Amino acid sequence: MMLVTRKLEFCASHRLHNPRFSDERNREIYGSCNNPNGHGHNYTLEVTVAGHPDPATGMVLELRTLKHLVQTHLIDSVDHKNLNVDVPFLQETIPTLENLAVKFWDILEPHIENGRLYEIRLYESDRNFVVYRGKNRERPD
Ligand code: NI
Repeated sequence: MMLVTRKLEFCASHRLHNPRFSDERNREIYGSCNNPNGHGHNYTLEVTVAGHPDPATGMVLELRTLKHLVQTHLIDSVDHKNLNVDVPFLQETIPTLENLAVKFWDILEPHIENGRLYEIRLYESDRNFVVYRGKNRERPD
């Protein structure tokens, strides 16, 4: 088996805030990401597909195709958007890295035809990122 990854970037703003918590509690939990008027991040999204290289092409899939899928189904929806208000599939979702990764997976997974979606890595900065491998594979391997 081979893992093939395409990296894409997008910029977006957000505010992490749970209306069920007090303002003080929200500040404790989310820190500067709770800033009332929001703030931006330069996100990096890495999408990894697992599969076997086709002997005829020598490839698991065309990275150009994967890039196009991620661009049209995810990046175009979130790039230069306010994740709290502009993105239909994020309504009622606190736009943490974790929640974004799960939403991205659920949207993208049905569109992968060659190989299977293996992993989504979402970076909010060089230091902060999450790795999601789907709800059927809760144990990282
Ligand atoms: Ni933030």
